[in-house]
Amino acid sequence: MWPSILSLLACGSPAPAPAPTPQPEPAVSTLHQPPAPDTIPEGPFGDAVRRGQAIVQDTQTHAPQFSGNDLSCKNCHIEDGRKADAAPLWAAFVSYPAYRSKNGHVNDFNERIRGCFTYSMNAQASPAGAAPGPDDPVIADIEAYAYWLATGIEVGSDPEGRGFPELARPEHVDIASGESLYQQRCMACHGAEGQGVNGPDGTVIFPPLWGPQSFNWGAGMHRVNTAAGFIYANMPQGQEGSLTEQESWDLALYIDSQERPQDPRYAEGEAERDFHDHDCAFHEQGPEQGS
Ligand code: HEC
Ligand code: HEC
Repeated sequence: MWPSILSLLACGSPAPAPAPTPQPEPAVSTLHQPPAPDTIPEGPFGDAVRRGQAIVQDTQTHAPQFSGNDLSCKNCHIEDGRKADAAPLWAAFVSYPAYRSKNGHVNDFNERIRGCFTYSMNAQASPAGAAPGPDDPVIADIEAYAYWLATGIEVGSDPEGRGFPELARPEHVDIASGESLYQQRCMACHGAEGQGVNGPDGTVIFPPLWGPQSFNWGAGMHRVNTAAGFIYANMPQGQEGSLTEQESWDLALYIDSQERPQDPRYAEGEAERDFHDHDCAFHEQGPEQGS
């Protein structure tokens, strides 16, 4: 630095050479890369990780007692909970304990998983009739898997790629446009009635978006803003990133306006709930939004 400062001070000397153009930063992704599936260690810890991975991949086969619909964790936590912007389990793992307004207290990771069983997996309709308890081995195995996926991330570090992208709410969310987009872009896989596609043996090929085999209306995916972010980043499968934010909102509103299992918090005491006139659309904003 000295020579250039000296030349600036020296009256009448030639203009200083222009500062060198900064070299572009090498494009290093800061996104966490979870360890490869074939590196799960041997021994009891590795066994727990493998069991947890299997539950996330195919919940109906590996945790049938708590499976209340046709969904598996990986239908929303895509690539077995590895994919950034699809609520990856590694990012979740390091982000708890955390306060959740949904239940008004600080949740640990264990409780957060049980929440997805209650709402996304509709555990009220499972053989057990409820989500696994905090000491259930199913929870311990999923925790082991998420802990292993998070290898190398600092606890509490709020990693990039957590959750789904947050999309700004558009002025108008259009359910009719959502319906026609659904028919063009989604129906081939998810079915005319949102029922998904099952193989001859009942295996889920494309998961249901609404109806009795889908998430219930207490689920995170039943919030239009959350579903819009998920759809924007992750659908249509194979053409991710091809929808605009507006289209994602319209689709989310259309899907979340369809019938689905009751929220267990309302199931008792409220005999019938009108699925088309509740506050599903924008939980905090009341039913008028988006129509
Ligand atoms: C219908 C889709 C769906 C299914 C199926 C599902 N989840 Fe979720 N899960 C969500 C949504 C939506 C969120 C909230 C993400 C957000 O708000 O950013 C979430 C959040 C989570 C979180 C917290 C994520 C974070 O970053 O805070 C965990 C952990 C989790 N789910 C675990 C599971 C497990 C384990 C299963 C299977 C037993 C499962 N989920 C099944 C949709 C689903
Ligand atoms: C090529 C087939 C295909 C198309 C087209 C497609 N999806 Fe999906 N979708 C899938 C698959 C497969 C999954 C489960 C992801 C996994 O397990 O990897 C999924 C999962 C979902 C989920 C979360 C799981 C559930 O059942 O709720 C939603 C919501 C969703 N898709 C919405 C849409 C929307 C909206 C469109 C149209 C814009 C769309 N999808 C188009 C194949 C497709």
